[in-house]
Amino acid sequence: MTMSESTNKVTELAASRSGVEHCRGDFPCLAQDISGHPLVYLDNAASSQQPLAVIQKVAEYQSHDHANVHRGVHTLSHRATEAYEGARDLIQAFINAGSRTEIVYTSGTTESINLVAQSFCRPMLSPGDKILISHLEHHSNIVPWQLVCEQTGAELLVAPINEAGEVEIDALFSYLQSGVKMLAIAHVSNALGSVIPLPEIIEKAHSLEVPVLVDGAQAVPHIPVDVQALDCDFYAFSGHKMFGPTGIGILFGKEKLLDAMPPYQGGGDMILEVSFAGTTYNDLPYKFEAGTPNISGAIGLGAAVRYLQAADMEAVSRYEHELLVYMSEQLAEVDGLRLIGTAANKASVQSFLLNDIHPHDLGTILDHQGVAIRTGHHCAMPVMEFYGVPGTARASLALYNNRDDIDRLVASLTTAKEIFGQ
Ligand SMILES: Cc1ncc(COP(=O)(O)O)c(C=O)c1O
Repeated sequence: MTMSESTNKVTELAASRSGVEHCRGDFPCLAQDISGHPLVYLDNAASSQQPLAVIQKVAEYQSHDHANVHRGVHTLSHRATEAYEGARDLIQAFINAGSRTEIVYTSGTTESINLVAQSFCRPMLSPGDKILISHLEHHSNIVPWQLVCEQTGAELLVAPINEAGEVEIDALFSYLQSGVKMLAIAHVSNALGSVIPLPEIIEKAHSLEVPVLVDGAQAVPHIPVDVQALDCDFYAFSGHKMFGPTGIGILFGKEKLLDAMPPYQGGGDMILEVSFAGTTYNDLPYKFEAGTPNISGAIGLGAAVRYLQAADMEAVSRYEHELLVYMSEQLAEVDGLRLIGTAANKASVQSFLLNDIHPHDLGTILDHQGVAIRTGHHCAMPVMEFYGVPGTARASLALYNNRDDIDRLVASLTTAKEIFGQ
């Protein structure tokens, strides 16, 4: 079988499934032993694994079609451009953006948020203006706003969270009423798994004419996202958390906002004409895509989107929700285990602490049993400060996990306790 036949077969197989069952075999990296045990991969919030459909699509592009995009008259450049732009169409459909011009390729969520902070917010901010975020944000949705506040004299406001890890909506609304210029908020918390009730928040923000950026890094692989239904102004996410390659991500922005924004970076591809007298900028979305882009990354992301569409995001969300409830219940049964993050509405993630065992020690012991979790502050230091802990252990699910994985996690925690004589 050629590589392209095999890619098509994987895509057909994925498309023929009605749900998410039995998809584990699509992910070659999962089929290995670590320290003599079959791998249980529960670090999906950091980076998920890639299905064969993505790996082969990228390999096929690198092997047969690689060339620079947009500027060539030769066949390979045409093929590369077609695949790169075709992926944009797939991504537009996946999040239901109104137009392909609203889909900007970036290197990931981090760059998407920095782009909005610098290009949309910086020119409109004056000393005393306010930007609002919440207490559960990833550093990527904190530091870019601190930078723009330093640059402009604006002030950063932080909406509080409660003990369960939910954003305090009343407090957030009262901050919104205090003359905020921008609200930047997660869709799903990476440290706690809390799902933020975006529809009511966005409706309230818009009633006060406050634009909203959503950090969707932890939402897109787990719950259906429809940017038109949400009516958010910007939505940022990363390829590597949704079964695609690293180094590629997306900024969705409403066309009228993107259109009015100055370019974020200057260089090739983002211009129409350059002379020493001045430069005219390219149309959307190219105005924000200076230089040679991550072509293979975009093509891989397109393949990841096709994979998720075939799995059906409603089915993925239902399946993972059930699994998360099972995981949280099983973890809660472990004597001495404290769940961190118990919001009523959650996706994918459960943080926890086990007695006084340091999370890094716990992670290392679990690794020796083939169980991969993440430990530390999860780039959410303010969340750790809120709970008065230096870090947590975090297990995070993806569509290929199952109850056996959870049982292995719980068994390995029992072993860890034995090692510590507990
Ligand atoms: C909620 C959230 N926002 C932003 C990021 C940053 O994503 P990236 O490193 O892909 O830019 C992450 C990564 O963990 C995240 O979980």
